[in-house]
Amino acid sequence: MPETVTMEKIVAFCKRRGFVYQSSEIYGGIRSSYDYGPLGVELKRNIKEEWWRRMVHAREDMVGLDSAIIMHPKVWEASGHTATFNDMLVESRTSGRRYRADHLIEDATGREVEGLSPEELTEIIEGDERIKDPADGGRDFAPVRPFNLMFETYTGPVKSPENIAYLRPETAQGIFVNFKNVLDTTRVKVPFGIAQIGKSFRNEITPGNFIFRTREFEQMEMEFFVEPGTDEEWHEYWIEERFNWYLNLGLSEEKLRKREQTEDQRAHYATRGVDIEYNYPFGGWSELEGIANRTDYDLKKHAQYSGQRLEYFDQANNKSFIPYVVEPAVSPDRIMLAFLVDAYTEEELNGERRTVLKLHPRLAPTKAAVFPLSKKEPVSTIARELYDDLKGDYRIFYDDSGSIGRRYRRQDEAGTPFCVTVDFDTIEDKQVTIRDRDTLQQERIPIQAVRERLQGLISG
Ligand code: GAP
Repeated sequence: MPETVTMEKIVAFCKRRGFVYQSSEIYGGIRSSYDYGPLGVELKRNIKEEWWRRMVHAREDMVGLDSAIIMHPKVWEASGHTATFNDMLVESRTSGRRYRADHLIEDATGREVEGLSPEELTEIIEGDERIKDPADGGRDFAPVRPFNLMFETYTGPVKSPENIAYLRPETAQGIFVNFKNVLDTTRVKVPFGIAQIGKSFRNEITPGNFIFRTREFEQMEMEFFVEPGTDEEWHEYWIEERFNWYLNLGLSEEKLRKREQTEDQRAHYATRGVDIEYNYPFGGWSELEGIANRTDYDLKKHAQYSGQRLEYFDQANNKSFIPYVVEPAVSPDRIMLAFLVDAYTEEELNGERRTVLKLHPRLAPTKAAVFPLSKKEPVSTIARELYDDLKGDYRIFYDDSGSIGRRYRRQDEAGTPFCVTVDFDTIEDKQVTIRDRDTLQQERIPIQAVRERLQGLISG
C-alpha cells in the first residue's frame, strides 16, 4: 500500500536528495527563502522549458520577452498596484505577531472573507470569540489595515522619495509596457501572445508551505491579445490548454480541478478568473495557476498614464482597437511542488521498500544513468564511451559504485526514468540492458541504438 505523502516527508526528501535547501542555512536560515540544489535546479529548468516549448516554440501566434525587474515607478501607479495591491494585516497586541486577517478568520471560522474592507474585517475579528492569536490564544488585536505587498528599494545612492523603485510583483506589466515595441518590431497580428518567465517579489505577510508561497518566486506568464468580443472564447481555450498541459505531463487528474473565482477573489483588473487547483498535502485544494480575463484594463491604463497610443490597427477591417487580454499565470516553484508531491511514491519491491519519484521523463532531472557492472576493463571503458556519447543532450549520470540494486535505488529516488547497464555479455554481443523505472521492465538492445531509443522514450 503506498503511504500518504506528508509535507514533512517532502521537505526532508528535498533536502536529503539535493532538490531544495533552506536559504542561508548555515546562518540559521531565512524564512520563506529557498535554494534549489543540483537536482532541484534541473527539475525547475525542465518545467520552465516544457512551458516555453509548448507556449512559444510550438505555436505560430506567440513571441517571448525578458523584461527588467525594476521598472519606472509610474508603471505600478498605472497598473493599480501602488494603490490596491494590498493584503489585510492584523497585529496581535498580546504576542506582537502579524497575520493576514483573511487567513486568521478563515482558519478559525471557515468563513470566506476575501475582498472585505479593513473595517468589516476588524468587526468580524472583534465579534467572533473563536478568532484567537494562534501564537498565544490572545484576543487583543489592533484594527485591520491594508499592507502593500510590493518590495521597495531605491535607485542610485540617494535614499529619497523620488528615487523609490519597486521589485516587480508580477512579470505581466513588463509585457504590457512593451506591447507597442513588439507590434512595431515584429509581424504579429491579433490574436497573438507574449510570454515571459522571470522572478517576481511580494512581501507576503504569511509566506509558507515550503516553496508554495514565498517572497521571492518565479512566474511564467503569458498575455494573449485578442479582439474585444472574442475574449470569452479565448479564455475558455486557454483554461483547457493549460489544464491539459498538466495532464500531458502526468499530473494526477483526480488531484487537479478548475475553480471559478468569486467576485471577491478576483484581482482588481479581471472580469473573470478561473484557478487550476491542485490538492496539496497541506490544507487541500490550493491555487496552482490562475487564468484571468484582464480585458483592456492594463493597456488602457498605460495609455492614459504614458500618453502613448496603445492600440492595434486591424488592416483587414481598417479599424483600430485596444485589445482585450487573456492571461494564464503560474509559478514554476508551485508547479514543482505539485509534481514532487504527485510523483513521490513509497512502495514494496521484492520484499524491500523503495522510494521512487515517478516524474514524467521530460521533467526528470536526470534522464538516464549508465552503470558498468564492473569497474574493470573493458566493461568500464565501454560504459564510459556510452556515457560520453549520451551526455550533452541531457543530464546523464555515471555510477560505478555499489551493487546494481543500490544504484537502481539511488536513481529511483532521483526520478531517473532509465538505467542502462553494461555487463560482461556486452563485450561479445555489443548489447546493453535498459531498465524502466516504473514498470521495471528490462530490454536488451544494441549499444548503437541506445541514443535513439532514449530520445524516443523521453520525447514519447
Ligand atoms: N499576473 C497575474 C498574477 O500575478 P496572481 O494570481 O497574483 O496573478 C499568479 O499570481 C500565479 O503566481 C499564482 O497562481 C501562483 O502560481 C504564483 N504566485 C503568486 N504569488 C506567489 C508566491 N508568493 N509564491 C509562489 N508563487 C506565487
